[in-house]
Amino acid sequence: MGNSISRRTLLKRGALLAGGFSIAGGLLEKAQGSPIIASPAHTGAAGSSLAHSFPEVWSERNIPMDPLVPMKARLSANENPFGPSDKAKKAIMDALPTSYQYPFMSLGDLVQKISDFEKVKKENILLASGSSPLLMAAGIYYGKSGSNIITGDPSYPDLPSRAEKVGAKWVKVPLTADYKLDLDAMEKAIDANTGLVYICNPNNPTATVLDKDRLKSFCERVSKRVTIFIDEAYIDYLDDPQGTTMIPLVNAGANIIVARTFSKLYGFAGLRIGYVVTQPETIQKLTMYTEATWSISATTLHAAIASYQDREFLDAALKKTIASKNYLYEVLKKEGYSYVPSCANFVIFPIKMEGRRFVEEMMKRGVSIRNWQFNNQDWCRVSIGRMDEMEAFAAAFREIS
Ligand SMILES: Cc1ncc(COP(=O)(O)O)c(C=O)c1O
Repeated sequence: MGNSISRRTLLKRGALLAGGFSIAGGLLEKAQGSPIIASPAHTGAAGSSLAHSFPEVWSERNIPMDPLVPMKARLSANENPFGPSDKAKKAIMDALPTSYQYPFMSLGDLVQKISDFEKVKKENILLASGSSPLLMAAGIYYGKSGSNIITGDPSYPDLPSRAEKVGAKWVKVPLTADYKLDLDAMEKAIDANTGLVYICNPNNPTATVLDKDRLKSFCERVSKRVTIFIDEAYIDYLDDPQGTTMIPLVNAGANIIVARTFSKLYGFAGLRIGYVVTQPETIQKLTMYTEATWSISATTLHAAIASYQDREFLDAALKKTIASKNYLYEVLKKEGYSYVPSCANFVIFPIKMEGRRFVEEMMKRGVSIRNWQFNNQDWCRVSIGRMDEMEAFAAAFREIS
């Protein structure tokens, strides 16, 4: 539908959306992809309005949006628009007739698959509906006694901000000059009151990755003093995820929690499944604060089992992501912008406009991105989308750059 969408249809949709807000209230704030307006399922791009697709931007960040602007590119949530795989979709359809049953067996099947591939025991794995519930549980458990949580700055805020809500102190350690987590400074920041060190690798929003050996020795040494949470949400975008993950340290008994998600390269952000690999006693602690396993739907479980380590799909999605990313690099270079070389499915670059205005101007042109501010500089974080989305980004960006 895109630009050809009629004004009447859009007005009708706008009215429906407004109605949805009055009825659904706060629920809609969380409902990214809410079914209030029907839109084609495969991408959420054509046929849906910006306001429909980004209620969180509208409501939480208070950015005025014109519900009549058709959405051209959704580049604000680091999703994989090339997923989920056909195998995953088929598995969902096949699982529907029996989805009146609790999926006891399928939970075991997925845990077994992960256990075989990662060479860890089944009792080291805790599944949940995405990695977020596990990040939240860790934030609550390790923050609740008023301890401090150490993170990079900037880094993914969900765990420490949840910890803050239960009384923790969030200690933010600036990144190094090359926008990586500063492991030395993070280690120095640890004190007797530290509850958890949060390492996001690759880091969101900078898409930088730590040297594997340095991170390994950091974890071996520091985990003797304090629990380390390593968030590997974007590890599947690296050349050698198996050589980079800290999961083997769990086998060696280290006091670490490694989080993984199907939301990124697997394309499951809306299906919701993730897990942690950690010590069984840590699993006990986390399950006090989350539904974890019991919040996963049978259909999603079957999809995850069908597509776990499906190299054909993952490699194809990676290839398309890299092509879109290289295109973006060229656009930025041509417009005279620098960027931080990315090891994930998003790129951050310094902008020459106030961040919030930049988001608004892009939004007016049907492109959603995120802004950040650090090092006294405004930044744009753009997720890597399909080529047509990157072209829409380029066209909008050229107009305002
Ligand atoms: C670093 C990081 N960790 C965790 C998550 C949460 O992902 P999910 O709950 O979809 O698994 C995200 C989402 O963007 C992320 O960027």
